[in-house]
Amino acid sequence: MSLIYEPSRAFSKEARIKNMCEYKELCLQAEDDYTGYWAKLAREKIDWFEPFHTVLDESNAPFYKWFLGGKLNVTHQCLRRHLNVRKNKAAIIWESEFGDKRIITYLQLYYRVNRMANLMKNKFDIKKGDRVILYMPMIPEAVFAMLACAKIGAIHSVVFGGFSAEALRDRIEDSKAKLVITADGAFRRGKPYMLKPIVDEALSIGCECCKKVLMIERNKEPVNYKRGRDYIYNELIMQESQYCDPEPMDSEDPLFLLYTSGSTGKPKGVQHSSAGYILWAQYTMEHVFDVKENDTFWCTADIGWITGHTYIVYGPLAMGATTFIYEGTPTYPDAGRFWKNIEEHRINQFYTSPTAIRMLHKEGSNEPSKYDLSSLKVLGTVGEPINPDAWLWLRESVGNNRCSIVDTWWQTETGGHMISPLPGATPQKPGYATFPLPGICAEIVDNNGNQVPRGKKGLLCITKPWPSMIRTIWGDSKRFVKAYFSDVKKDGKPVYFSGDGAIMDEDGYIMITGRTDDVINVSGHRLGTAEIEAVLAHHENVSEVAVVGKPNPIKGEGIFAYIVLKNASDNIGEEIDMIKELNKLVVKQIGAIARLDAIKFVPGLPKTRSGKIVRRILRSIARNEEINQDTSTLENPAIVEQIQMLDAN
Ligand code: PRX
Repeated sequence: MSLIYEPSRAFSKEARIKNMCEYKELCLQAEDDYTGYWAKLAREKIDWFEPFHTVLDESNAPFYKWFLGGKLNVTHQCLRRHLNVRKNKAAIIWESEFGDKRIITYLQLYYRVNRMANLMKNKFDIKKGDRVILYMPMIPEAVFAMLACAKIGAIHSVVFGGFSAEALRDRIEDSKAKLVITADGAFRRGKPYMLKPIVDEALSIGCECCKKVLMIERNKEPVNYKRGRDYIYNELIMQESQYCDPEPMDSEDPLFLLYTSGSTGKPKGVQHSSAGYILWAQYTMEHVFDVKENDTFWCTADIGWITGHTYIVYGPLAMGATTFIYEGTPTYPDAGRFWKNIEEHRINQFYTSPTAIRMLHKEGSNEPSKYDLSSLKVLGTVGEPINPDAWLWLRESVGNNRCSIVDTWWQTETGGHMISPLPGATPQKPGYATFPLPGICAEIVDNNGNQVPRGKKGLLCITKPWPSMIRTIWGDSKRFVKAYFSDVKKDGKPVYFSGDGAIMDEDGYIMITGRTDDVINVSGHRLGTAEIEAVLAHHENVSEVAVVGKPNPIKGEGIFAYIVLKNASDNIGEEIDMIKELNKLVVKQIGAIARLDAIKFVPGLPKTRSGKIVRRILRSIARNEEINQDTSTLENPAIVEQIQMLDAN
C-alpha cells in the first residue's frame, strides 16, 4: 500500500482545477464530445489569424490533422499578443554559473526575435519551410533563434550541445538544413567548452546542403572563421530592423523537428505541428503547473530536448509567464546551486529530472534547508521513473511537505504532458504518474490490444489522436507508421504505442515501468541500443555486440555492452586499452551521453536459431535477475551460463 499525499488546501483553493470532481468533469466533457472539447480550447487559447473550419481530419489515419483551415503564427501567441498587456514584464531571466544575469522583457524579446528573423531572411535567404539547425548553449539567443525561425515559418531543429560532430552531421543531412546557428562555446563547471569547432568538423565531413553558419559570441574563445560561410551574430544583428511581419502558418505547417532515438540505428526526426503543439504547451502549463500571471517558472532541461522546447520556451511564453534559464550544472560551485537560484529568483514552479534529484539528494541532502524555498508551489519531474525515496526527499526537503509533486509522463513524440497529477486536484503517490490529462485516452493493454487487469504490466497506448501528437518522421512516413502504429490494435484499428510499459494499480493510478523496446534511458536521455551497437560494431576488432541497460542508482540506467572480439586477448592491459578505445569511439560518434558504464568481452551472445540476439537474456544477466526465459531453444544455450560466470567475476 503506497502512501497518498493530498494537495495542500491553500493551493487547491486557488488552483485552476481544485479537486478530482472538477478533473472528472473535464474528462467527461472530452469523452462526450471529443472534437468539441478540443475545438473549444483551441478557440479560447489560440489567437488565430484565421479560424479553423475542421477540428480533426482522420481520413488519412494515422496522419491525423488538427484545426484545418486555421492560420496562426506561434510567435504571435508567445510574444506579439502580450505586448498589449505585459510588454515590460520579464519574459526571460537568465543566469550563468558565474552569477551574471540578463533580464529580457516581452518587448525586448519581441524586437530581438524580429531582428534575428530579418537576419535569417535577408542574409541567409531562409524562407518558409526551410530547415535551420540550432546547436546552442543555454543562452537567450537560443530562444531568439527558435522563435525567429517560427516567425518566418522556417522549421528549427535543435541538436543537443552534447552531441558529437558525427551526430550533428547526421541531423543536418537528414533534415537538409540550409543554415546552422551556433555559438563559439559556453561555460560549464566554471570552464569554457566549445561548440563552433564541432560545427566546423560536422561540415567538413558532409553537409553539402548547409552553406552558412551563424555564430553567437558567448565565451569569446578563439575559433576558426571561414569567410563566406561563417557570420558573427553580434556584428550583424543591430543592422536589422526590429519589425518583421509574421508568416501566416497553416495549423498543420511544421513548427520544428526534434531528433530522438528509436529501436533501430538511425535517429528519428519527430515532426511537430504549429497549432496543435502550441495549444498543448499552453494547456499543460495551465493544468499541470497551474502557472499564474506573476509566476517565475524554471525548467532545468537543456533546450536541445523536447522538455526544453515545451517548458522553457513555448509553454511559458505562450502563457505570458517568466521563464528562468540557467546556463550551468546543478552542482556548481556546490550542491546548493539549484536551491540558491530558487531562493534568489523566487521560483514558483521547478521542473527537473529524477537524475538531478537523486544526485542532489546524494551530494547535499541538507542543502535545501539552507535556503528560503518558500516561493515554490509545484515541483515537477520528467524523463524517467522516479523512485519513491527521491520523490519523498523532494517533497519533504525541497517542498517542505507543502508543494504538490507532478510526475509527468510524456515523450518527444507527444509534444507535452500526457499523464500527470494536476497539482491542485490529484492526491499523489510516490512513483506514480497517476492519471491521463483530461482528453487523453491512455490504456494499458496486452499484445492483442486487450486491457490488462489492474496490477499487471502491459503496453502503454494512447487510443485517440490528440492535438500535439507527432505528425510524422521527417522524410520517412513508412517508419512513422511502423514505429508507432503497427504494434497494437484496438477494435482492429492501430493505436499509438508509446514503447513504454505501465501498470495500473487498484486505485487506477498509473505507474510507468520503463521502455519495452530496445531504448535505454540514461539520466532521462533516450538512447537506442542499435545506435550504440552500430558504432561499436565499426571497430575492426569487434565481431558481435549487444547493448543493454542496467539500473544505476543515480542515472536510472547505465549502458552495458557485451562484445565478442575477433581477436580476444587474455592480457588485462590489452583489455583495458580496448575498453578505452571503444568508449572513445562512442563518445566521438554520438557524444558523452552515450559513454558506456561497462564492457564485457564474451565468447558468444545468446541467439535464437534464426540468429537473432536475445537481448532480454542479457538484460537479465546484467541485472543479476533470474532468467525466466526457456534457454533450451537457443542456438547456443551454454553461452548463458558462460556469460553469467564472467559477469560474476
Ligand atoms: O520511457 C519514458 C520516459 O522517457 C521517454 C521519453 O523520452 P524523450 O522522448 O526523450 O522525452 C523525455 C521528456 C518528455 C518515455 O518513453 N519518461 C518520460 N517521462 C517519464 C518517463 N518514464 C517514467 N516516468 C516519467 N514521468
